[in-house]
Amino acid sequence: MKTLSGLVIGAFALTSVTAVTPALADGHGHKHKNLMMQIEKIVKNKQHAKLIHDRRKEMRALGGNMKKIVDYLKHGKGGPNAVAAAAGAIEVIASKTHSLFPAGTGMDNYAGITGAKTSIQSDNAGFKAAADELATLAAQLKKVASSSGANKGQIAAAFRSVGRMGCGGCHRTYRQKLKR
Ligand code: HEC
Repeated sequence: MKTLSGLVIGAFALTSVTAVTPALADGHGHKHKNLMMQIEKIVKNKQHAKLIHDRRKEMRALGGNMKKIVDYLKHGKGGPNAVAAAAGAIEVIASKTHSLFPAGTGMDNYAGITGAKTSIQSDNAGFKAAADELATLAAQLKKVASSSGANKGQIAAAFRSVGRMGCGGCHRTYRQKLKR
């Protein structure tokens, strides 16, 4: 089994923390408004603007929940119960992710302000499957973290799958990283 330090210096753990830092700052009203203002500058359709805003916030919430799990695995903050709660929150978001990416709201219309690739529409079943995969892996992590005999190594292994196959499995194909 891999050591815990092997986990925390793993590529996902690092990128998730850097991806999440601005997301945490965004939890405050001021920055929150900034994202909406940035979006509305480019996206004139109000419904589309709100949708892109809300789904980017949901994605950041995924990052925030992943960070909570890293806090436990890397810093010993919280415990398996907190991990299970975070995994449950990830599962809930994953189960609605597909509905947050309707046709006409992706990069083909709004380049620069959304990272939703056109492949989401051209391979919508694959995109849905990727969201389902995250929900399944998050449910597994929740189960491992909730079981009475759970040890850190098992939780770490389930967490790695969530990051690499859940988040990464979708991002590799369907997401373009935006410039900050
Ligand atoms: C089914 C596909 C899918 C899954 C699964 C997925 N993402 Fe995403 N993610 C996307 C797409 C598409 C975008 C671009 C959204 C946009 O810009 O409109 C994105 C964007 C993001 C962003 C950038 C948000 C911003 O500030 O604009 C973060 C952070 C993120 N995802 C984190 C995660 C984490 C962490 C996980 C796993 C727990 C995850 N995502 C799982 C598809 C997915």
